[in-house]
Amino acid sequence: MSNYHIKNLQEYFQLYRKSVRNPELFWEEIAEENFVWRKRWDSVLSWDFTKPEVKWFEGAKLNITENCIDRHLHIRGDKTAILFEPNDPDEEAEHISYRDLHERVCRFANVLKGKGIQKGDRVVIYLPMIPELAISVLACARIGAIHSVVFAGFSSTALATRINDCDAKMVLTSDGSYRGAKTIALKEIVDDALKECPGVKTVLVAKRINSDIHMEAGRDEWLQPLLDTAYADCSPEIVDSEDPLFILYTSGSTGKPKGMLHTTAGYMVYTAYTFKNVFQYREDDVYWCTADIGWITGHSYIVYGPLANGATTVMFEGVPSYPDFGRFWQVVEKHKVNQFYTAPTAIRALAKEGTVHLEKYDLSSLKVLGTVGEPINEEAWHWYNDHVGDKKCPIVDTWWQTETGGILISPIPFSTPTKPTYATLPMPGVQPALMDENGKEISGNQVDGRLCVKFPWPSMARTIWGNHQRYKDTYFSAFENKYFTGDGALRDEVGYYRITGRVDDVIIVSGHNLGTAPIEDAINEHPAVAESAIVGFPHDVKGNALYGYVILKDTGESRDRDNLRKEINQQIADKIGPIAKLDKIQFTPGLPKTRSGKIMRRILRKIASKDTSNLGDTSTLLNPEVVQKIMEEAL
Ligand code: WTA
Repeated sequence: MSNYHIKNLQEYFQLYRKSVRNPELFWEEIAEENFVWRKRWDSVLSWDFTKPEVKWFEGAKLNITENCIDRHLHIRGDKTAILFEPNDPDEEAEHISYRDLHERVCRFANVLKGKGIQKGDRVVIYLPMIPELAISVLACARIGAIHSVVFAGFSSTALATRINDCDAKMVLTSDGSYRGAKTIALKEIVDDALKECPGVKTVLVAKRINSDIHMEAGRDEWLQPLLDTAYADCSPEIVDSEDPLFILYTSGSTGKPKGMLHTTAGYMVYTAYTFKNVFQYREDDVYWCTADIGWITGHSYIVYGPLANGATTVMFEGVPSYPDFGRFWQVVEKHKVNQFYTAPTAIRALAKEGTVHLEKYDLSSLKVLGTVGEPINEEAWHWYNDHVGDKKCPIVDTWWQTETGGILISPIPFSTPTKPTYATLPMPGVQPALMDENGKEISGNQVDGRLCVKFPWPSMARTIWGNHQRYKDTYFSAFENKYFTGDGALRDEVGYYRITGRVDDVIIVSGHNLGTAPIEDAINEHPAVAESAIVGFPHDVKGNALYGYVILKDTGESRDRDNLRKEINQQIADKIGPIAKLDKIQFTPGLPKTRSGKIMRRILRKIASKDTSNLGDTSTLLNPEVVQKIMEEAL
């Protein structure tokens, strides 16, 4: 029995026990047998959650792209590594073989070097889902530069904040992007952002939509001519296990976004291991994850995890609704996709359209279906199971986070019996704990609590870039000696986990994490607004939608409410991005506050969800009368 590939439930339990009894031995065997190292580690793990400090495979030397590309060349040189499916179904798909990928990554790496990028420098990547995105990520890793991909749906302000936070020297972007029937002028967004970013010396621009754009002399250059003349080989920079691989920003409940820092060896080992097992990938399979590489799911399970296994990974530029709601299924049929991984919000949107689109396509290639990003409701689970998987494909409901780097709780298909809405069991090496409000671990089954992890796993984020104290405060202070996830969970009678949702002020809308505080800050900058509070409420496609309570200044009172609503949403789109727009905006004379001045969001949440039969204790409120008023005027 190899540690690397779980084949049945009994093996899973055996490996799980081994991974808890002797985690170092467990991970050492996996690392040893499945990757290319330039130097072996001196110690497998050292850790201290009080600092917090975690190091895996210390002393080892490697390059992750050698593991994701070079080592496959002699056995899989002609195999498709990345299968690019464009936005427009009439545009031809592109099969990038491992050999092509090697050449393109090397050329790109040489271009970066030629522009003065060195090991440890930060490069911000603001690109749509075109091959250059995956290639530039790998090119950074090739030379030891730290990539920070910013999802190309974020606004110029959000982009500028991220560029400045990690002090990037270079930005990679494109003239524009296609998204369904729309085109988006990405370069204009970058130009706007860079007005606030004096540290950026170079912008390299990929051509996608052939638009006429402004090129700033001395700063901006077209990418293609540079790639064409670059040398097609670039030896990998050999880095230490704990050298940074990338920074990826995620929303916090307060303040600016958190730049989660992931390091090299542990991240590689864990994403490769979980990819292999959670999707049961076999050599000739075609795997498709519909996420954007701008999110952690794309980093770990479009790029690094699949490529480390020599897989064929589909990269899709488009959206599920263009040219119609059959697009996903058309792609599954066209490329004979075997593993399909998407978000519950997409499943709900597709389910709304019924099965007419599904019936047009042959989905018999599918073997495993996955979901990620938010809890999946029972109805969506069954629709996915019955109509997409034809009741033959196990659904892996994978729970994890930007911070965890890889999947922590998930069924192993064909081994773990699935149960709708349950992420089921921890991956080997992962030790979850449920905690009560007094900080005590809850033992036994049929219990619920706050979800923590009590032992390190290889792909956990090591810090928040530039703010280790915040890392400690956010994740390691709520419960002693444990990583706190911010999620609530319950454990059923057989020990299966079900994630019940966030217990902090992060709201997940269409699978995207949004912090309430940054949105409130954006709204409060509107000249007519005095104060605001955002809460989530259930939405049948998005999972949650945003409901804003807004107090106007005297000057705002005379204004037209519908115009104000539009302006507020525009303000949010400009500061954060369209994904953070509010579904409902209620103007109110006051917000329920405690005597210490804290907004009682619990009450606002109940009103927004139309669940006002029992508002709980309001006696501690400074202004209980306002609750009645808000209820009367609720939308
Ligand atoms: C939520 C995405 C229920 C959870 C990989 C977590 C989920 C947050 C699931 C992280 C799931 C993710 N079931 N909830 N299967 N997967 N979540 O950082 O609240 O974008 O904390 O990482 O999404 O979102 P992030």
